[in-house]
Amino acid sequence: MKKKITAPKIYSMKNKEKIAMITSYDCPTTKIVESAGIDIILVGDSVGMVLLGYPTTLEVTVDDIIHHSKAVSRCSQYALKVGDMPFMSYQTSVEEAVKNAGRIIQEGGMDAVKLEGGENHIDKIKAILNAGIPVMGHVGLTPQSVNLFGGFKIQGKTAESAKQILKDAILLDQAGVFAIVLEGIPEELAKVITESVSCPTIGIGAGRFCDGQVLVFHDMLSIPEPCYFKFVKQFENAGEVMKNGVENYVKAVKENEFPGKDNVTHISEEILKALKD
Ligand code: KIV
Ligand code: NA
Repeated sequence: MKKKITAPKIYSMKNKEKIAMITSYDCPTTKIVESAGIDIILVGDSVGMVLLGYPTTLEVTVDDIIHHSKAVSRCSQYALKVGDMPFMSYQTSVEEAVKNAGRIIQEGGMDAVKLEGGENHIDKIKAILNAGIPVMGHVGLTPQSVNLFGGFKIQGKTAESAKQILKDAILLDQAGVFAIVLEGIPEELAKVITESVSCPTIGIGAGRFCDGQVLVFHDMLSIPEPCYFKFVKQFENAGEVMKNGVENYVKAVKENEFPGKDNVTHISEEILKALKD
């Protein structure tokens, strides 16, 4: 079995080995991604959009994250397990932030938490770290600020915005986060950030020069359908494979081909006779 991956281990991978991270919200997915050699599993608040059918991540609660984290932590063997802090679980106060981070660790069984923001939430991040909880940062196109941005729009395209994102990343690094997710920013900016911080950067829609990459499991496997975001690559069409399997099942039921003789159990002639008497 692979050795348990810790937050300090991830920190030490910068400039040595690229970091592969993916979302998982349940037990079978956790088993699949670990058998494929993933380094970090994220119980992301993307669960709201990907599994629960919400239009944004804003509806997701701490209880939702804990519910899915429990499933993941029961089935995880070695990967670093990171739980997302959802909208309004840390923005209101330092106390709320520490309390909710603690719940994700204690009740959800996660190893670390991730929260969106930089300079604006540095006080909460420091307090969570002081409580002994590893923190992963997240800057750029931070989806919990979708209404402020006016949609899911690439950030850091103006000098002012790019400078603020770089500043946010440097402040996070100095505060002691073990890695930073860079989401939805130009790759030139991601490269400058990656070269300016001592912790690894993990990109999603942030180009080729980050220390690692993260994707949503369902997006990269086309579940239920191919995902046409430019930053996503289709690594397999699992949605099509799943659909074909269910089509085969429906057809077999309708045509009375399933269950077949191999799928049934029998009783003895004697019991059958007794049953009919
Ligand atoms: O919620 C999520 O899946 C994320 C990743 C896309 C970084 O935050
Ligand atoms: Na997220």
